[in-house]
Amino acid sequence: MKKCNIGIVGAGTVGIGLLEMIRDQKEAILEKTGLDITVLEIATRTPSKVPKWVEAKVSNDINSIIKNPSIDIVVELIGGSTTALEIVQSALKNGKTFVTANKALISEHGSSLFDLALSHSLEIGYEAAVAGSIPIIRTLRNSLVTNQFSSISGILNGTTNFILTKMEVDQLTYKDALKLAQDLGFAESDPTFDVEGIDVAHKISILANLAFACKTSIEHITIQGITSIQDKDISNALEMGYRIKLIGSAFLKNGKILMSVQPTLVPFNHPLANVMFEKNAVYYTTSHSGAGMLIGSGAGAHPTASSVLADIIYYGKRRGSTPKELLELNQFPAAEYGKFNEEKSRYYLRFTTLDKPGVLAEIAKILGKYNISISSMQQEESLENEPTSVVILTHLAKVGDYTKSIQEIDSLKEIIKEPTISFPLMENM
Ligand code: HSE
Repeated sequence: MKKCNIGIVGAGTVGIGLLEMIRDQKEAILEKTGLDITVLEIATRTPSKVPKWVEAKVSNDINSIIKNPSIDIVVELIGGSTTALEIVQSALKNGKTFVTANKALISEHGSSLFDLALSHSLEIGYEAAVAGSIPIIRTLRNSLVTNQFSSISGILNGTTNFILTKMEVDQLTYKDALKLAQDLGFAESDPTFDVEGIDVAHKISILANLAFACKTSIEHITIQGITSIQDKDISNALEMGYRIKLIGSAFLKNGKILMSVQPTLVPFNHPLANVMFEKNAVYYTTSHSGAGMLIGSGAGAHPTASSVLADIIYYGKRRGSTPKELLELNQFPAAEYGKFNEEKSRYYLRFTTLDKPGVLAEIAKILGKYNISISSMQQEESLENEPTSVVILTHLAKVGDYTKSIQEIDSLKEIIKEPTISFPLMENM
């Protein structure tokens, strides 16, 4: 048996979920793993919200945890990358192993933090930072490490997948679906990070680092959130045989990395199309294992806490051994990036136009000028001279040419009534 004392910073949805799991599983964990976990202290802005059955010391004093010589592991569950950065730095300097669910922290500061951890012979666990309960971090670092990856992509945000699913199956408005996701504890404290795609950008950059053995930065990710998706886009896509999903993806092409976060039309026969509600999935294509997908709960108290607890056990058992695990991450070179605008893709385009003679000809002329060929088209029936939607699926064309053609089309103020919506189609994966 090995004792492991922990201090938890942050007692929100995941923090309380973790406390419940430790309360209910302490004996089973001891039996299965030989680790005896005790929560010694909790620091939170709202100590009154910590349930009465918790026996640990509860305060709003993070320093008390950092300075407590009996604490082995500091678990950070507050999110964001300002206070959390100070916590991890002082925790490591004070000899604590650090476990976090914080993707912003790892994506933005991982490299310098791994350096700091190594210089103190300590380790950092962040399994919960990507895709909640899905065991993807250790899988990439261990089980799949013999493969060359050509792509890694997925549905990496439970909130947005829940919203899109509810808009489809229960015909909820975007606002109602978001509110429900927040009530269920899926959303970030600032939901802009979820709906604008930033959360996924942090996660896909972490996955890309591990899959391609390089250091990536979210500045190089093309990011589009879900706020421009309307009910009609969801139903149009379904009629055409696709489901709209917020997909984070990273590809390796000729040694260069291409990363994006975009609402994407996923064909029904792709496994990612059937990942619904708050479920997440990571899909990869590799040299020796072919394609594969891991699916699981991507958000919420217990799914996220289960990965945090797995890290506490894994790193708790390793504490005291000479850590080498972070070494390889720190030796990764900086990524080289490809040019997204030069890539080819098919697209879903929705134009809001006035229904009058010559409109379609005008749109088609501009698309043609940029070598964008129409594969199919449908128009909502409307009254003459009233606004209507024209939806087009295109053949393969350069991403940069879509941007230029849409700019030109949107400048036709006398016929185009709202900015054009454009989402790529998922293919070649
Ligand atoms: N807000 C995140 C999500 C939580 O919805 O997926 C887990 O990172």
